[in-house]
Formats: sequence, structure tokens, C-alpha cells
Amino acid sequence: MKIWIEDIKDYEGQEITLKAWLYNKRSSGKLHFLQLRDGTAEIQAVVFKGNVSDEVFELADKISQESTIEVTGVVKKHDRSKIGYEIDAKDVKVLFDSVDYPITPKEHGNHFLMEHRHLWLRSLRQKAILTVRHRIIKSIRDFFDSKKFHLVDAPIFTPNACEGTTNLFETTYFDDKAYLTQSGQLYMEAAAMALGKVYCFGPTFRAEKSKTRRHLTEFWMVEPEVAFFNLQDDMDLAEEMVEYIVQQVLQHNRSELELLERDISKLENVKRPFPRISYDEAIEILHKKGNDTPWGEDFGGDEETLISQEFDRPVMIHRYPRDVKAFYMKQDPENPKLALCVDMIAPEGYGEIIGGGQREEDIQKLREKMKEQGLDESIFDWYMDLRKYGSCEHAGFGLGIERTVSWLCGLHHVRETIPFPRLMDRIKP
Ligand code: 4AD
Ligand code: MG
Repeated sequence: MKIWIEDIKDYEGQEITLKAWLYNKRSSGKLHFLQLRDGTAEIQAVVFKGNVSDEVFELADKISQESTIEVTGVVKKHDRSKIGYEIDAKDVKVLFDSVDYPITPKEHGNHFLMEHRHLWLRSLRQKAILTVRHRIIKSIRDFFDSKKFHLVDAPIFTPNACEGTTNLFETTYFDDKAYLTQSGQLYMEAAAMALGKVYCFGPTFRAEKSKTRRHLTEFWMVEPEVAFFNLQDDMDLAEEMVEYIVQQVLQHNRSELELLERDISKLENVKRPFPRISYDEAIEILHKKGNDTPWGEDFGGDEETLISQEFDRPVMIHRYPRDVKAFYMKQDPENPKLALCVDMIAPEGYGEIIGGGQREEDIQKLREKMKEQGLDESIFDWYMDLRKYGSCEHAGFGLGIERTVSWLCGLHHVRETIPFPRLMDRIKP
């Protein structure tokens, strides 16, 4: 039977055979300590000269980093190791050699590591990040399942822009052209009219020309959309979801967070209610802190960081000026200059993790806004149908997975949050 290292505790005292990679090694006299990993966990195999043949002892001394090996030995309790056990080796075989593995235990520059991303993924740090990413995605799915949302898949090829026309990836589509989707939202609006509570989860694409630590050209987004929901309901949902994700990661990924040296106390604060401030209040905070962003402008990374410093948990900024936001956002009935939208800003300077709000359900207002933004209504005819046939109040939001991973793991740059990052200057490996 196949034995994985993560299940090693079930085999205490037994002789077993493991297949694994050698990620590190040290020797002292009659002992070789082989550090093994099989993707599920790590364990040390101790090769004692007195327990193995001379050939095996010599071989164990020569195995190179990332060689694939097979170790047979007895599972022993070992309190000082992370997994609590070690293998007392009786036999060691090399199944596949690994000559001159490029990523050694010494420090490497970022460019070098990115060029070797396919190998870099094997490092314990990258494994920890991908484990947290997996947990975040699972928590999101569990959260929406428990609330009886339907998962609805949005298309990747689209005929129209959703988030502005400046960062669209265009592609040929037979004799026509198409764009890679920037957001599944418009399709979720249609799906919400069919199923009530829906969400999509998939890759989205933006030709972001900015090389910031928060932007990828391909990123994953979860986008819930709910019929008969207003801005208030939307903020409640976003807050509950983010609290749930953080609590799940704290519950299941302590060891990963510790390996990443994440300050866990900062994440423990992430409990509802989250502060909610208006755009006007956010501008006031900025001006008090010496940032002179004029009323009417959208916020960038610097502004978000300044605002986040005021709070010990995520903050929701609502009601931005309508002119800086997407065409589909509902006009605030109490102030026509504002949109009923919300951005959630992560604490500690990790930036905007959620964008969303209530949608314009009035076909006339929607038309005017599209005209103003130079959008061709004929391409959106299907979308307009949603307002023609039983329009209703509805709202939703999008959470960026990579920004969330970067925040929870405490990473400086989103490039480490996704297995194979796509950046302005990188599409390989
Ligand atoms: O604020 P955005 O642009 O909102 C939308 O796309 C809406 N249509 C969502 C909706 O209401 N259904 O993007 C949502 C989130 C951002 O808050 C951010 O977390 C992430 O997507 N995001 C990016 N993440 C990485 N790289 C990029 N270039 C990103 N652009 C947005
Ligand atoms: Mg946004």
C-alpha cells in the first residue's frame, strides 16, 4: 500500500518503505541525516553506519538535492522533529538522480526564482503559501455552499468589457474579435435572476500596465451576486465571508503561518463588525494625514495604505463618486454624485481585496451612464434585457484570491500567491 509521510503516525514501530525527494542532508561521522519530502509532509531518515551495508552508507553520503529516493526503515517517535517521528533507515535506493539542482539552500534573487518557478514551488515556503491558498478557496466554497448559493460558471471569452476598456486583452475569435473576461459579474447578474443567490469562481484577465506588488494580469476572483439585495446586505455578506475565511485559515493553517513568520495576532483581530466609512470620511482621513487627494478621485495603493493604518481589521469604504466607478453601479438616490458601491481594504497595507456594490436596475439611468462612458449599447443588448424583463434590486462583489493570500500569508508581492504568476513582463514558465 502507498504510504504518505503525512500518515506516518499510523506506522509507529513498523518497517515501511517511502518514496520521496531529498531536500536537504547533513552528516556527522557514522550518521547521515536525510531530509525527505513527498509533497504531503517532511520527515528525517537516519542512516546509521551500523544498520546498513557499506554500499548504502556510502550512497547516502552522495545523494544529491532533489533526487528521488526510496527509503526502507522503521518508524520511530522523535519528539524534536516537526512531524514527531523519524525513520531509522535499513535500506536506501536512488530511483532518479537530480544533478546540480539550481535552487540550493542559499539565498537566490527574485528574478532567478521566478525563472525557476516550476522548481521553486517545491520549497517549503511555497508549499505553505499554496496550502493557505487552497484553504482560502475551500472556505469560500464552503461558505457559499452553507448559504445555499449556486456555483455558476462564467465564460472566459466575452464580447464586451465589464471593468473599463483600457485593460482588455483582445484575441481573435474566428473572423471576429473577443476579449478575455475581466469579471464574471454581468453573467452573474443574469444568473441571479435565474437562481437567486449565485457566485462564480474563475480566472479573470486584465492588461494592467502597472508593475505594482498587487497586480497580476491573470488572477482568480470569486464573485457572488444576489437578487433583492441592497448595498447594506452586500456589505454584511462580504464581511461575514472574510471573517469566515480568516478564521478557517487560523484554525487549519497555524503551522504554515508560523513557517511564513506571519504575525498571527494581527489576523486574530479580524472579527465582525468591520468599520464602515464613506468615501467622504476616507477623504477626511487622507487630508488629516497630509495626503491631498482631491474629492472625486479614485484611491490608489498609497491612499489605501494610509486609510488601512487607522484600523486593526479590514475597512469598508462605501459610496465613491459615481464618475470614477463602473457603468453598472447604482446611483445613490440621496446624492446623485455618488454610487452605491463598496471597496474592502485589507489591514496592514495589503490594499483593496473586494470591490462591489448595488447594481443600477433602472434601464434609463443605465443607458445614460453607458453613453457617458462611451460604451456601445448594442453589444450589451443581452444585459439590458435583464432590466427589461423583471428588473430588481440586486448587488454583489468580487474578492481577489491573490490579494487575500498575500494578506493572510503576509507576503510582500502577489507573485508568490499563485502557482504560475502572469505579470506584465512574465508569461513563462
Ligand atoms: O474592484 P474590481 O475591479 O471589481 C470587479 O471586477 C467587479 N466586477 C466585481 C463584482 O462586483 N462582481 O475587482 C475585484 C477585486 C479587487 O478588489 C482585487 O482584490 C482583485 O479583484 N483585483 C486584482 N487582483 C490581482 N491583480 C489585479 N490586476 C486585480 N484587479 C482586481
Ligand atoms: Mg476595485
